[in-house]
Amino acid sequence: MLNLHAMKNIKSAKIIHLTLVLIITFFSCANDEGSITKIPEPIVLSFELVVSQQNTLRITANNTSTGINGLNSYWQFTENGPKVTDEAGPEMHLYDASGDYLVTLTVEAPEGDIQLSKTVTVTDSNEMQPPLKDATNSFSVGMAVKSSQLNTQHSDILIREFNNLTAEFEMKMNIMYPSQGNYDFTAADAIVNYGVDNNMNIHGHTLIWHTATPEWVNNFSGTDEEFEDMIEDYITTVVTRYAGVVRSWDVVNEAIEDNTNNLRNSVFRQRMGDDYISKCYQFARNADPNALLFYNDYNITFDVGKQEATFAIVDDLRSKNLIDGIGAQMHIDIFFPSATQIQSIIDGTVSRGLKMHFAELDVRVNPNNDLTFLTEARAIAQQNKVREVVELYNAIPDANKFALTVWGMRDSETWLIDFWGQPDWPLLYDDIFKPKLAHKGFLEALDN
Ligand code: G3I
Repeated sequence: MLNLHAMKNIKSAKIIHLTLVLIITFFSCANDEGSITKIPEPIVLSFELVVSQQNTLRITANNTSTGINGLNSYWQFTENGPKVTDEAGPEMHLYDASGDYLVTLTVEAPEGDIQLSKTVTVTDSNEMQPPLKDATNSFSVGMAVKSSQLNTQHSDILIREFNNLTAEFEMKMNIMYPSQGNYDFTAADAIVNYGVDNNMNIHGHTLIWHTATPEWVNNFSGTDEEFEDMIEDYITTVVTRYAGVVRSWDVVNEAIEDNTNNLRNSVFRQRMGDDYISKCYQFARNADPNALLFYNDYNITFDVGKQEATFAIVDDLRSKNLIDGIGAQMHIDIFFPSATQIQSIIDGTVSRGLKMHFAELDVRVNPNNDLTFLTEARAIAQQNKVREVVELYNAIPDANKFALTVWGMRDSETWLIDFWGQPDWPLLYDDIFKPKLAHKGFLEALDN
């Protein structure tokens, strides 16, 4: 039997032995400088290339190599192209044109450079996608323009893709009739002539709109009768000037209060009475009996009161043969309104034998202001919403189709950014004029 003293000695001996083993192990792993030698991880080069869906000329290169910590590395996105430092995280590269490109990652190892190359195929979406206007012959495809855009880069896309032209703001009363007796058709003429020269239909927008009324009209000093004569003269002058050239007019725009079925109490209603709308349509009809006359408003897909009031206005005009169609402004977002709501304005228009204009299309992707850039997921959601809208439009009987008009070309040019005071990307082209997924969604709806 071991006594307690002997057991203590054995325990001490074990501790000393363990300590010695640790010390020996430590020094056997130490180099000359006394630090620990790590067995170097082998260098294995690898990377991933992903082509963006949003912009099919853009790639993301992600270096997934192992064993290169502390070594310099760089990318070449074309064969023998310029060296781009490989920073931490994925690198983006934008190509100028479609093609197969050799992407090379070089690591400067102590024994000499190590390289890995892969080929990536990118495509210019301009080349991939046929022009919108060629995708259908049952309705025209419209774009809103400013006269300042006519001889710029916008023009290539306008001529290639669109066959219906709307002035975004220069064919409104505040621009065409800035002071009493003095018309200014400079910008309107430029837009109309451009449309004629390029075989486009021209949609006149808009003769009477409370928001674009010049101050002198709001403060008109004559009698009500003189006011009405002045309005008749204005509508006659404008519509006559463009008779035979402007195919269609929004005569009155947005006459109904939001969330009600009441007429706005505009200066036109105050001065000319509740029937001011049919008076204006009569003036337009007289000036050009061949022009198609539209009533145009927003939120009439889902605002039930507004939709009812719209149908009441057009029913009155129909009874006098003064209306040819309804313009449903499509200022919508990726979540709302629903296909059923959109269908409701189509049904009411078609059942009345009128033409349907899907006017002013823009599809907000950031209505809740939770984006600082257009994510791939939202770009796809926008593509889906645009496809849905165009499919609904395309399913309208041909006799009731007219045009589907997009409200602006590039995302950065949309009125919505100023209006809502937050970023958004609601249109079909990005800021370098590349068609977005939304553009593809438009075409997908017509691809049958
Ligand atoms: O007044 C100056 C003009 O003299 C100058 O030539 C021009 C140079 O850019 O600036 C002018 O201000 C313009 C303003 O309208 C005048 O009314 C702005 O640039 C112009 O962008 C502007 O806003 C337009 C707005 O209607 C008012 O006309 C928007 O571009 C246009 O998107 C917007 O469109 C309306 C539809 O017509 C009807 N439905 C709603 C939609 C959005 O508000």
